[in-house]
Amino acid sequence: MTELQKLDNLYVANTYARFPVDLVSGSGSLYYDENGKEYIDMGTGIGVTAFGACDTEWKNAVIGQLNALSHTSNLYYTKPCANLAKLLCEKTGLKKVFFANSGAEANECAIKVARKYFEDKTGKQGYIITLTSSFHGRTLTTLSATGQDKFHELFNPLTGGFLHADVGDTLAIENYVKSYPVCGIMIELVQGEGGVNALPNDYVKWVYEFCNKNDILLIVDEVQTGNGRTGKLYAFEHFNILPDVVTTAKGLGGGLPIGACMIGEKAQNVLTFGTHGSTYGGNPVCSAGAISVISRLTPEFLSEVSKKGEYIKNELLTCNGAQSVTGLGLMLGIKTKKPVKEVVDYCIKNGVLVLTAKDKLRLLPPLNIPNNLLEKAVKIIKDAIN
Ligand SMILES: Cc1ncc(COP(=O)(O)O)c(C=O)c1O
Repeated sequence: MTELQKLDNLYVANTYARFPVDLVSGSGSLYYDENGKEYIDMGTGIGVTAFGACDTEWKNAVIGQLNALSHTSNLYYTKPCANLAKLLCEKTGLKKVFFANSGAEANECAIKVARKYFEDKTGKQGYIITLTSSFHGRTLTTLSATGQDKFHELFNPLTGGFLHADVGDTLAIENYVKSYPVCGIMIELVQGEGGVNALPNDYVKWVYEFCNKNDILLIVDEVQTGNGRTGKLYAFEHFNILPDVVTTAKGLGGGLPIGACMIGEKAQNVLTFGTHGSTYGGNPVCSAGAISVISRLTPEFLSEVSKKGEYIKNELLTCNGAQSVTGLGLMLGIKTKKPVKEVVDYCIKNGVLVLTAKDKLRLLPPLNIPNNLLEKAVKIIKDAIN
C-alpha cells in the first residue's frame, strides 16, 4: 500500500472501494499515476469529464470565470447562470431550470416539484412511483426513491411516499394509481448503476402517455444519461418524448459540481419564492464550465459519439468472453463470462481505467476520445474479457 493510500484510509471516511491507483495528473483521455504510468480513461470519473481530463476549452472557460467572479450566492444575478439556463431550455424545450450541485440534489428538486404540483392542484400529498433496479442518489430521500433494497438497509426510517414498480409492469403502475394519490413517475431511460439497461421503447411510450392522460408528472433522471452520453443531448430524444421534468448532473459540469432540474411547461411555475434554494446552485464558475460542455454538444459531434459507441459494441460482441453488451451511445455495460473483478484488474494492470455496474463491466469514456486511444483501450478490454 502506498503512503497516499495509507493516509487516505486513515482520515477519509471509508465509503469507497478505491482501486489501488494514485492519480496525479490527466490530459484528455489519459491519466497518469505518480510513477508516470499512463492509463486510458474509459470511465470519466463516473461519467463526468465529458471532454476528458483538464480539457483546454473547458479549463479556459472556468479560469476566465474564476478571474472575473468566483461566487456571489443567489442573492444577485450573474450571466453564466442565466446563459446556461437559456442554453438548456432552448436545446431541450423545457422551460425553467433550478441549479443544484449534484445529481441527488437535482432529483430532490424534481421530487419537490412533483409533490408541490400535486399539492397546488389537489391540496393532497402525492406519491411518486420509481422502478426497481433504479438509482437516484444517496441523500435519504433519493435513496428512498431508489428501487433497490440493498441501499435501504440500515437507513430506516426512509422518506415516505415512494412506490416501486418492476420495469415493464404497466399493471403495477395502474394499480398504484388506483390505490394512491400519485403525483409523479420517475425513471432512468438507461438504468446506469442498475446494470446499464435501456428501458424498452414501447414501455417508455406507455409510461409517457399514461402520465399525460392522468396528469402525473413524468420525471426523467438523466444524471448519468444526459449531456451527450448516449449520443443525443438527452436520452429522452431517443424515445421521442418530452418529459415534464428532467434532472441531470455528472457530465454537465465537465468536472465541477453542478446539477440541474429542468422543468417543462406544465410545472414551470411550481417553484416559487422561498420554496427551494441552494447556496452554491448556479455558481458562475461551474456554470461557465457547463456552458463550455453543452455548447459543444452539436448534432455532428453527437453522431460521432454514437459511432464510437457502435464501434465498441461491435468489437466487444465478437468476444467469446462477452455474454451481452447493453446501453446506448458511450454508456455501455458488458456481461462477461469471467467474474467482472478479474476483467477490471486486468484492465487496470494494463493501463485502462474502467467501471462496473452490478456484475457488469461499465464503460463511460470521454465523448471525444481519439480513435487511436479508443482502439487501444478496446483491444486491452477484449484481452481482459477473453
Ligand atoms: C441516474 C443517477 N441519478 C442520480 C445519481 C446521483 O448523483 P450524485 O452522485 O451526483 O448525487 C446518479 C449517480 O450515479 C445516477 O447515476
